[in-house]
Amino acid sequence: MTPALSDRVRACEVSSIRHMFDLADREAREGRDLVRLEIGEPDFDTPAHVTEAATEAARAGHTHYTSNAGLPSLREAISQTLSREYGLETDPETEVVVTTGGMEALHLAMLTIADPDTEIVCPTPTWPNYLTQARLASATPVEVPLDPDEGFALDPDRVIDTMGEDTAAVVLCTPSNPTGRVYDAAAIERVVEAAVANDTYVIADEVYAGLTYDGSRRSVAALTDAPEHVLTVHSCSKTYAMTGWRVGWLSGPAEVVREVTEIRESTTASTSSISQHGAIAALTGPQEPIDGMYDAFEERRDYVIDRIDAIEGLAAPRPEGAFYAFLDVREWEGSSLAIAESLLTDYGVVCAPGGGFGDAGEGFLRLSFANGLDRLEEGFDRIERALEDEAFGPVG
Ligand SMILES: Cc1ncc(COP(=O)(O)O)c(C=O)c1O
Repeated sequence: MTPALSDRVRACEVSSIRHMFDLADREAREGRDLVRLEIGEPDFDTPAHVTEAATEAARAGHTHYTSNAGLPSLREAISQTLSREYGLETDPETEVVVTTGGMEALHLAMLTIADPDTEIVCPTPTWPNYLTQARLASATPVEVPLDPDEGFALDPDRVIDTMGEDTAAVVLCTPSNPTGRVYDAAAIERVVEAAVANDTYVIADEVYAGLTYDGSRRSVAALTDAPEHVLTVHSCSKTYAMTGWRVGWLSGPAEVVREVTEIRESTTASTSSISQHGAIAALTGPQEPIDGMYDAFEERRDYVIDRIDAIEGLAAPRPEGAFYAFLDVREWEGSSLAIAESLLTDYGVVCAPGGGFGDAGEGFLRLSFANGLDRLEEGFDRIERALEDEAFGPVG
């Protein structure tokens, strides 16, 4: 018998999203024609000028550790991008730290501000990694279910009711993974005001902010009078199709950024120097390829809305950002996991079960439109066929 694992690690669960991914991977390897709509990453290749800049940097010998905070020229580019695109003013010297993806920014932010007896408040349905990251910081994740009948809009009263002296942070993911909602500015302001009143933080996960189709792209921190209570996370992954490069960043008050920078010395120390050079090219180079991907996502988003409207028995909150539609299957027979498994097995279309995004997501399926229009068409045709067959009982 092996020695015991930590309580912290044993408290973490394998997500049902990963379960579907593994199931689909197995069937795909056996040659099955699946429409993979469960995957949360752009299907585009990284723009060529980014890859070229990184290759050149590697050839020129930029292959060493960088400072823990990241290359000064990248921090400068980040600060300018935050200001230009999201209305957020930061000092690149003291208020920005480059991280290994948004993932590390979130993880280190929680390690920096949470103690074992504190709580991380997460309006749900939401990206399940926050719950795991809270547990890894030995804090307690607290789910605040949003109302499906309000399209999972941010309900500040529900969030504020959950906050108190034990709250280390509230995590706001906007645009939201998995619902695609962009949270209302007034609702956000109220949550930040409550963070001020409770002397705590809002962690604003804005990794999808570059993919906002309706409404304003303004950063949460730019919407409030108390930006010192907001820790903002951005990333190259989704906007620039750079998931494998692992470049993200945290911006916020200098004290938190300093501590995050310090503890990085013991985690990853610095983000890949080569990737950082790629990120500089992504942020400061030609934006046409990035605008092109945005336009493609918007076109797919419109297509997805049209298909959902046209298919009887299908509904979803309007995806205002990111690349997800959260299909309402509450009237269908079976749990979201059972429905997702059966759609895969019987119809060859793969979605992520909503229950994997917190209890509030049960009765929903996340469909990713990070897929070409032809595959989306085929995917919706298969879902439509399942409904015509009454595979999940008579709905619509
Ligand atoms: C909501 C959300 N936040 C953060 C991330 C982390 O992205 P990355 O570490 O690739 O920047 C993801 C990735 O799927 C995500 O969906």
